[in-house]
Parts: sequence; C-alpha cells; structure tokens
Amino acid sequence: MFKDIVKKSRSYRGYDESRRISREELLELVDCARFAPSSVNGQPFQYLLVWKKEDVDRLQPLTGWARALPDMKLPHPGKCPTAFVVICQNTEWDSNLNRYLRDVGAVAQTMLLAATQEGLGGIMIGNFSPAKVAQEMELPETIVPMLIVAFGKPDEKIVITEIGNGQSTKYYRDEQDVHYVPKRKLEDIVL
Ligand SMILES: Cc1cc2nc3c(=O)[nH]c(=O)nc-3n(C[C@H](O)[C@H](O)[C@H](O)COP(=O)(O)O)c2cc1C
Repeated sequence: MFKDIVKKSRSYRGYDESRRISREELLELVDCARFAPSSVNGQPFQYLLVWKKEDVDRLQPLTGWARALPDMKLPHPGKCPTAFVVICQNTEWDSNLNRYLRDVGAVAQTMLLAATQEGLGGIMIGNFSPAKVAQEMELPETIVPMLIVAFGKPDEKIVITEIGNGQSTKYYRDEQDVHYVPKRKLEDIVL
C-alpha cells in the first residue's frame, strides 16, 4: 500500500552503519527523482552522489541534525547515514536560486519514498552551509548545493502521534530513545 510507504518514510536520525549504500542504489533514487514535476519543467538540478566512506565521513560533520533537540547530539556515535545525495542547482542552466525551491522538496521526497520501498530510509537536511559543502566536496562555482538528503538502513524506532489544535508540533524522544513525531489530524487540516 502506498500509504504504508508514506507512513514508514520518516526522517531517520539513526542508521545501521554496517549497511553501506552503493553508487548504483543512489543512481536508482536519482532516476526516480528526475521524473518529479518541475516549475516550467526547468529541471535545473544535478546530484552529487556520496557513498564512499571517506566522502561520507567528510560530509557528515557539515550537516546539522535535530535542531529541536539541542541537548542531544544526533546521530548517536556509530549510527550515521552511509550515503548522501546533495541536490544542487546548476546556475548555468538557471541562475534563479529562488524559483525552484519547491522543486527541491519534490525531488527529495521522491528519493526518500523510493528508498523506503527498498527497505532503506533517510532524512532531508537543510541545516548546512552551501559554501562549506561546495568547498569540501570540490564543487565548481556554478553548482550550488540546495538540499542534502542522507540515506541509510534505519536503526531507530519512530512513532507517529496525533495532535489537536494548539498542541506542540515539536518532535521529542523518550528515555529509550524512541522518537515521536506529532502530526496534525486530518479534520484539522482540511479547510
Ligand atoms: C526541507 C526540510 C529540511 C529539513 N532539514 C533538517 C535538518 O537540517 N536537520 C534535521 O535533523 N531534520 C531536518 N528535516 C527533518 C524534519 O525535522 C522532519 O521532517 C520533521 O521533524 C517531521 O518528521 P518526519 O519527516 O518523520 O515526519 C528537514 C525537513 C525538511 C522538509
């Protein structure tokens, strides 16, 4: 069921590091993303595939995780993602970096859903410095990082809860490190 995949496709912040992800697996995710809708069909994105351990280890420290849990350093040691896809805009194809901000979400979610279907998982990471990532990954000036998506085999429990109007949308963790994600009720979001 498609809805089961959507529900399973959570933002994971803990992975089984023994399950490496190959370049071919990332290619397959991008091959799904390229069919996503795009404003005026501009398709200005190119994708940096990061799967070699030494490259993953260089990118990981440049990514910011779980800003809503400032007392916690996530991922926990030994539970990092084993691959990244850096969604970049090729400014030679279109130099307007604001025009395609919605498109970024469409391609990222397409890759996450495709990964979930393959028994993998991931998370969108917007908390990074494009300049630092470009420098570390040796990207040319015309290739601008827009959003990073981390991937791996999820190794943590996430529970979706329902909240009413006025209740906090902030995610939280219990003593067992179970991650809770509050979602608004259907009846509260339909106008
Ligand atoms: C555009 C975007 C950027 C995000 N950036 C980050 C990030 O930098 N770090 C992080 O830990 N989570 C990030 N997230 C994940 C959100 O925190 C997560 O989607 C939210 O807590 C709801 O959890 P869920 O995706 O499991 O429903 C991002 C999500 C989106 C949509």
